[in-house]
Amino acid sequence: MNIRSQRKDDHVVHALEQNGFHNDFQNVRFVHNSLPNINMSDVDLKSSYLNHRFAYPVYINAMTGGSEKTKEINRRLALIAARFGLAMSVGSQHVALDDASQVASFSVVRDVNPNGFLIGNVNANATVEEAQRAIAMIDANALGIHINVAQEITMDEGDRDFSHWLDHIRAIVEAVDVPVLVKEVGFGMSLKTVQQLYDCGVHYVDVSGRGGTNFIEIENARSEKKRYDYLSDWGITPVESLLMTRPLHHKVCMLASGGVTTPLDVLKLVALGAQGVGVSGYFLKVSHLDEKEMFEEVALFLEDLRKCMVLIGAQNINELRNADIQLREGLVMYRETK
Ligand code: FNR
Repeated sequence: MNIRSQRKDDHVVHALEQNGFHNDFQNVRFVHNSLPNINMSDVDLKSSYLNHRFAYPVYINAMTGGSEKTKEINRRLALIAARFGLAMSVGSQHVALDDASQVASFSVVRDVNPNGFLIGNVNANATVEEAQRAIAMIDANALGIHINVAQEITMDEGDRDFSHWLDHIRAIVEAVDVPVLVKEVGFGMSLKTVQQLYDCGVHYVDVSGRGGTNFIEIENARSEKKRYDYLSDWGITPVESLLMTRPLHHKVCMLASGGVTTPLDVLKLVALGAQGVGVSGYFLKVSHLDEKEMFEEVALFLEDLRKCMVLIGAQNINELRNADIQLREGLVMYRETK
């Protein structure tokens, strides 16, 4: 197997072993609502992002492709996306942009889900031509550009020159005709970062923060010298990112991810301003269940989103996003009654 395909398999193996840590979700609390005055069947989970209206505020975030094993993972994730109408991103497509024999490990998601909403994925070194080929490869409805400086810096074979990233992002946004989403990979985005992206014409960001899959730990484990234990809690959480970036939420469509494993985590990020919530590590684990269990698990997760909405007392996603937030010691959220 070539080195890049091996790396894709390594990432999956390490990610499956991780359990997440230093999460802020426990510091975000909803006030319990004893009289929600809602019929659960009237709860409306529809949410709009990437210029599209989705049945749920949850999507399958960028992970993989580029080897035989990861082709099967993409196939299973695409089955989930098709069954439940979830948007789905593939992982970085560069391996297939450089080696046509790997294209099928990505295009399988379109074969399985011909009418689904699919998001391509490239890095910020990509040229306009590469971005266009990545979109064509899966007939993508949107394109994600990942910014992963923390991963590159700690990867033995990683990039060291990041001086052209903003220029490349600007060029791609101007040239392609699908919505462009710029995403972190688990270290969070600050207000300044989101402002810089907005100034480049970016209207969709996924702050993808710390607290779930940890690529510094993964690259440290893969590296020869294993020098980076001291960076293992680097980054800001999606909760911190969404709070910091609030001044831009009216201009930029915010997506968030990082450590989301429960329906309640999803709704906490929505309440803090996310229109869509990306989930990777959890779906990766679910994709390894047998097919019947896999669908049952996701069906329960989506059903429980509805139950948690009742507990919060919110009937639809907009109502939840307009919840009144109060900061206390740590962080406590209050929802104002209708
Ligand atoms: C990722 N992630 C990722 N992101 C991206 O934009 N391009 C990529 O190729 C990958 N590759 C990748 C592989 C694997 C195995 C995992 C688990 C994740 C990062 C992912 O989209 C997300 O930003 C982080 O994983 C944080 O979310 P979770 O895993 O904590 O839900």
